[in-house]
Amino acid sequence: MKKPAILVARAIFPETLAYLSQHFVVESNQADEVLSPSELSMRLQGKVGALTTGSERIDGAVLKVNPQLKIVANMAVGFNNFDVPAMTASGVLASNTPDVLTETTADFGFALLMATARRVTESEHYLRAGHWQKWSYDMFAGAEVHGSTLGIIGMGRIGQGIARRGALGFGMKVIYHNRTQLSPQLEAECKATYVSKETLLKTADHVMLVVPYSAASHHTIGAAELALMKPTATLVNIARGGIVDDAALAKALAARQIAAAGLDVFEGEPTVHPDLLKVPNVVLTPHIASATTKTRLAMAQLAADNLVSYFTKGHALTPLNQVASAS
Ligand code: DGY
Repeated sequence: MKKPAILVARAIFPETLAYLSQHFVVESNQADEVLSPSELSMRLQGKVGALTTGSERIDGAVLKVNPQLKIVANMAVGFNNFDVPAMTASGVLASNTPDVLTETTADFGFALLMATARRVTESEHYLRAGHWQKWSYDMFAGAEVHGSTLGIIGMGRIGQGIARRGALGFGMKVIYHNRTQLSPQLEAECKATYVSKETLLKTADHVMLVVPYSAASHHTIGAAELALMKPTATLVNIARGGIVDDAALAKALAARQIAAAGLDVFEGEPTVHPDLLKVPNVVLTPHIASATTKTRLAMAQLAADNLVSYFTKGHALTPLNQVASAS
């Protein structure tokens, strides 16, 4: 039987590519060029499947010129690069990579919180620049993490992982806000208390954003929300660019309206708002929360397995929508 043709839209692990090649005729992009929407549409011609990352947008325009497409497997848990209703209407199955990155991403959320509250990168830059001449009592004094109040907005699997780390590892009081309240059992496991968004912003010493991006969550944190936070508070965004109004945040940081921020995701990334680059009290990382070799391999493997399962068994392992099966 002829192997189905697929596109792997960005560079991935050679072993994942070798695995996919056992099942498919693979066009890959190991040069790792970021494809424009028209290049993506062109490279998808004749392909029934694709493995994408968060950088490739699959929308009505791409689908219209690729009616042969059957499945797009995102190598990410987030899928705001997919227009899922348009994919469903076109009979295209969408899948993502949940679970395999939960603990790794929660680890990173905590790393960013620690680095932000304890001014790790700011003090390192100071040292590397040769400014460290003497010890002094208040040099890079930051905010306490253990025993403080952690406010989590978005209490999915990753949010719960962060809550567990905070409550069990650091003796933090954990409050959270979410579209739906967790079951009493999960709340007890995470030692987390449900509060309104306003109470969370006013009360938390550290605010962690782990909410998926959608039109409804756009600018969950803007000028009005920043104004509610304590002047000593930190804000950490490991969710998606667009959850925070980056321009408003840069202003709040410059004015010391809040103490510090840690950002792994940005509006319009990989471009970063120029005003964020000017303020010292922000830790900036390039969307690496899930980036350990083991986890990225697991994400690539799950995305690949979604393609293989769909074409061999008629269903994906972690689908985001329901469409008529391939077989
Ligand atoms: C995800 O899985 O959504 C991460 O942000 C990587 O894109």
